[in-house]
Amino acid sequence: MRPLVAAGRGVTIAGIGGCVPPSVVTNDDLAQVVETDDEWIRTRTGIRERRVADPETATSDLAEVAARRALEEAGVRPDQVDLIIVATVTPDMPFPSTACLLQDRLGAVRAAGFDLEAACSGFVYALAAGAQFIAAGLYDTVLVVGAETLSKILDWSDRRTCVLLGDGAGAAVLRPAPPGEGILGLYLGADGSGGDLLKQPAGGSRLPPSAETVARGLHFVQMNGREVFKFAVKTMGDAAQAALAQAGLGFDDVDLYVPHQANYRIIESSARRFDLPLERVVVNIDRYGNTSAASIPVALDEALSTGRIRAGQTVLLVAFGGGLTWGAAVVRWGYDRQAPRPLEMPGQRPRYGLPEWIRRQAAEGRARRDGRARLAAAAADPAASPAGAAPRPAGPGEPGALPGPPGRGAPPRAAGGGDAR
Ligand code: ACO
Repeated sequence: MRPLVAAGRGVTIAGIGGCVPPSVVTNDDLAQVVETDDEWIRTRTGIRERRVADPETATSDLAEVAARRALEEAGVRPDQVDLIIVATVTPDMPFPSTACLLQDRLGAVRAAGFDLEAACSGFVYALAAGAQFIAAGLYDTVLVVGAETLSKILDWSDRRTCVLLGDGAGAAVLRPAPPGEGILGLYLGADGSGGDLLKQPAGGSRLPPSAETVARGLHFVQMNGREVFKFAVKTMGDAAQAALAQAGLGFDDVDLYVPHQANYRIIESSARRFDLPLERVVVNIDRYGNTSAASIPVALDEALSTGRIRAGQTVLLVAFGGGLTWGAAVVRWGYDRQAPRPLEMPGQRPRYGLPEWIRRQAAEGRARRDGRARLAAAAADPAASPAGAAPRPAGPGEPGALPGPPGRGAPPRAAGGGDAR
C-alpha cells in the first residue's frame, strides 16, 4: 500500500478547537414532532440529545469559533496560516466556499482555501489532504476544519433521519512534526455505487432548486439506515487495519480510539472487533448525535479537555459516511491540554426546549406527506379524486408530485437550496 504521507517531513496536530451551538434538543423534545420515543432512540443509537443551530447561525459561524480555539492552542496567528480546508456537506452556500468565508473572518490573509466534501468522513479526508501540503514542503501551517449545520437539511417530520444528526464544528492545526510525534498512518476509501444510500438529492445540477423540488422535500437528507449500518461496520475495520498497518502498529498499540459518532452500536461493535476495551474508546454521541464532519474533531476536543489524550499516546481516528466514503488516521499525539476548554459558543450556555422553527418545519413536512399520500390515493382511484384536483404525473421514485409549492407561508427551505451541493 502506498503511504499517504510519503515525503520527508512528518506532520503533527498542533492544536484542536471545537464549538457547538447552545440549543439542546432532547429525545423527548423530538417525540413532540415525530412518532418516536426516548427509549427507541437511546437503545438504537445511544443518542440522548443533540445541539441545533439557531436559524441565523451558519456553518462558518461555528467553524470560526472552533478555528480560533485551535489556532490559540497551537500558538499560531491567523496570518501565519498557509491553507484552510473546510470539510462540510452544509456550507453556508454553494460558493464562495466556507473556507474562503472563514479565511476572511479569521484575517488569515495569506492562506489559500477550499472546501472538501466527504460527508461524515470529511475530517479524516481533510486531515489527509492538508497533511500532503506540509509533507511535500509546500506549506508549514494548515488549518483543517470539520463543520456542519445538518439541522438545516433535515426533514424534522422524518423520524428515520431527524433523530440522528446534530450541529457542531471542530478544527485542527497541522504543522511539521518534531521527531517522535505526528501522523503515522492514513487510509481513505470510497465507493460511489453506494451513493444512493445516503444523500441530499436536490439543490445541485441534477435537480436544481425549484418550487417542485422544495414541495417534494428533496432538499432534505435521505438515508437507508440499515444498509449504512452494515457498510459502516465493515469499512471501519478495513480502514483502521490499513492505517495501523501503514504505521507498523496493531490494535494493541492503540491508546485511544476516536470513532465517528454515528451510532453507539456501530462504535461498540467496531471496538469489539478491534479487541479494544471501552475505556479506550471516546464516545460523546449521547450529547451531540452525529455531527458528520465535525464529529471526530469535537470528540478530540473533549478528550483533550478531560485529559484522556496525552502527549505520547497513539490515537486511532476512524470515520465512514456518505459517498460512500471511509477513512482512518493513526496519530502519535504531541501535547497535553493544560486546562479544560469549553465547546460552547462564546458567552453562551446550553439552552433547552424544542425551537419553534423545528416545530413549524415538522408540521409543514407532515402536511407535505399527507398531501402526497392523498394524491397517490387519488391516482390509484381517480373516481375518488375531488373535481379539479387531478394529480400531475409522479416524479421518479415518488408516490405523487405536489401541485406547486406549499400554500401556507414560506416553504420549509429557501428555494435557493443554499446548503445543497
Ligand atoms: N423512532 C421510532 N421508530 C423508528 C424510528 C424512530 N426514530 N426510526 C425508524 N423507526 C422504525 C422504522 O420505521 C422501522 O419500523 P418498521 O419495521 O415498522 O418499518 C423500525 O423502527 C426499525 O427500523 P430499522 O431502520 O430497521 O432500525 P435499525 O435498528 O436499523 O435502526 C438506525 C435505525 C438507527 C438508523 C440504524 O440503522 C443506523 O444507525 N444506521 C446507520 C446510520 C448512520 O450511521 N448514518 C450515518 C451517516 S449520516 C450522514 O452522513 C449525514
